[in-house]
Amino acid sequence: MKKIFLLLLITVNILSCKKNKKTSFVNDTTHEAKIEALLSKMTLEEKIGQTNLRGVSSRATSLPTDLKESVRKGNVGAFLNIMNLEYVDELQRIAVEESPNGIPLIFGRDVIHGFKTLFPIPLGLAATWDAKIVEKSSEIAAFEASGAGIRWTFAPMLDIARDSRWGRIAESPGEDPYLATVLGAAYIKGFQGDDLSSPYRMAASAKHYIAYGAAIGGRDYNTVDISEQLLRNVYLPPFKAAIDAGSATVMSSFNEINGIPATGNEFLLKDVLRDELQFDGFVVSDWDSVIEMVAHGYASDEKHAGELAAKAGLDMEMTSQAYENHLKELIEEKKISVEELNEFVRNILRIKFRLGLFKNPHRNKEHTGNFYAKDHLKEAKKAAIESTVLLKNKNSILPISEKTNVAIIGPLANAPHEQLGTWSFDGEKEHTNTPLNAYQDTNTNFKFAKGLDYSRDTSKKGFKEAINIAKKSDVILFFGGEEAILSGEAHSRANIDLPGIQEELINELAKTGKPIVLVIMAGRPITITNIIDKTDAVLMAWHPGTMGGEALYEIINGIKSPEGRLPVSWPKTAGQLPYFYNHKNTGRPADSTNYIPMDKIPVAAWQSSLGNKSHYLDVGFTPHFPFGYGLTYTSFKYSDVSISKKDINFNEDLEVKFSITNTGKKAGKEIAQLYIQDVVGSITRPVKELKRYQHVSLKSGETKEVIFKISSKDLEFVNHKLIKVAEEGVFNLWVGPNAAQGLKTSFSIKK
Ligand code: GLC
Repeated sequence: MKKIFLLLLITVNILSCKKNKKTSFVNDTTHEAKIEALLSKMTLEEKIGQTNLRGVSSRATSLPTDLKESVRKGNVGAFLNIMNLEYVDELQRIAVEESPNGIPLIFGRDVIHGFKTLFPIPLGLAATWDAKIVEKSSEIAAFEASGAGIRWTFAPMLDIARDSRWGRIAESPGEDPYLATVLGAAYIKGFQGDDLSSPYRMAASAKHYIAYGAAIGGRDYNTVDISEQLLRNVYLPPFKAAIDAGSATVMSSFNEINGIPATGNEFLLKDVLRDELQFDGFVVSDWDSVIEMVAHGYASDEKHAGELAAKAGLDMEMTSQAYENHLKELIEEKKISVEELNEFVRNILRIKFRLGLFKNPHRNKEHTGNFYAKDHLKEAKKAAIESTVLLKNKNSILPISEKTNVAIIGPLANAPHEQLGTWSFDGEKEHTNTPLNAYQDTNTNFKFAKGLDYSRDTSKKGFKEAINIAKKSDVILFFGGEEAILSGEAHSRANIDLPGIQEELINELAKTGKPIVLVIMAGRPITITNIIDKTDAVLMAWHPGTMGGEALYEIINGIKSPEGRLPVSWPKTAGQLPYFYNHKNTGRPADSTNYIPMDKIPVAAWQSSLGNKSHYLDVGFTPHFPFGYGLTYTSFKYSDVSISKKDINFNEDLEVKFSITNTGKKAGKEIAQLYIQDVVGSITRPVKELKRYQHVSLKSGETKEVIFKISSKDLEFVNHKLIKVAEEGVFNLWVGPNAAQGLKTSFSIKK
């Protein structure tokens, strides 16, 4: 039994030390006095009004009189989805000029991966492993959205996702906590900048707090039942990173966690968020999630739901009106105190002050947002290139020459709306550059036949034309995948194959003998086990956004190289899910020596002859493609890994050095990854955990040395006593191109 030396005993539930917040808010006392002064003048009704986030249809064609009257009385604190600029201006004017204390409104919107200029969906942005491009995409999104009066976005979504059946994996940063913490902080920096009062920035909302991605079966909104140590080791780190980066707001999730819905969960909203993480912004509920506590069977009625949310520390209620309808009564009945309400209002006013809304409540009418500006589109194309993952490239068929005679086929080849992906309300499909558009803008030889009208199409009426143009071409470019509606909120799928009869069309096209390049646009990994052998190359473009066409044209024709790496393990079949690389070893870990594929099992085999290990008889125990995987147009060799010491003490740095050589003929970029394994722990530990990564660009034949530094701080985890510890013992360490490959070494932590 390994002795446990507690590196730092933190009673995880309550941190005594004040967090050093890496934000421009450190020691921000200027606003507190103003907040108290305002609070002292507000009536009970006005205080309750601030907690009210009113939903309006973005397609509203008028401003109802009663809505304006509510604002005039100070009964509304914020709006979501007001997309008519005149309405934004009129409502803010009423709030500032006619309400009792002139408290400005915040206008919010789901600006998830761009506003008008759309970037790849967040799972695609995660595939860039590039904090800079994530920050840039959010900065541009904020610049455009603030031009439409939006100063609060309901992003970033930081839900770790381990199940590709879940529709909202499309919005997630993937399956790894470390990658999600790096990108989570970048989103906050991009949306909020260093000065949240800038009229070109937006308050972020780290969502959905918490463990929304752990819903049973990948079924959206479904039950989450996980240990607190799993919650703290996997699901909490991205939220901590976002809060440390200064996220102005946090959104509570729809799901329950171990029987208590997040929106009424005092432990999560107070003990963890406020006391441990020192969050000082405000918590907003997700859409109607307050009153959904009745459906959960946790609240008896709307009033009880309001009481439970308020007791738990929820500051602002989205769209439902339990606070508006019952908080006054709950206070009169002394079930909720005025001081509890005052705290909600303080948190909300603090963000309104930080947004500069008291100084400049009205949008700057000269600031139009520069929708689709050239530099915005350029960044969107760069992101689409960096997010595209090359999964297969048999005989290096890619890149092809621009002179190649290609057949452009498939339901996503010219699907301007679908290509934008989920949560793309404000992006206009007229601005989408599709793969067909990109070919039309060049003088290359191509023929086009959709073959299928949309991803779920089951009609073969287009097959003949598609097969005909394939026969007259040198290479088939098949653009398949999912329509945008097949991923995102409430859009989980039990079967994640290519929808419709895309596989059948690919099989028919394969009969022409022409090589097939499959380009997938989808909101999740798509199981392609049935047809991958019919293809010569596979590119995963996710839903690549406005500039996906040109990005893919440049990758296919070698003007750019694919740079993405998988942010999620790619399953062979949905039956393997949930699947994630950082799994535990179990007492009977599977490996190739004890696995007999089902079709090789002898008839009447002896019951215990198949290797009693943790695998599936039919699909084995590995994903189709591992976390971190992605090919390039060149090849890389890792060599000469060394560590500065075999044994380190707690808090002593370990330096890891290794070389990467570009052994191919083309320049390329590798994303070098460092994984560790804590071999023996006071609780079982994952077989691998990503702890560092670095982009390394190399010319053909070039070698570079890479140095990573880690310490016991990087090896800490929350144990079964809910204490964050690093422990003595042996650690395996790999440096390599993905979670399944790499050069291995090991070191020990010794007191
Ligand atoms: C939705 C989503 C949430 C979104 C909110 C406002 O139901 O769960 O992510 O921000 O409502 O649209």
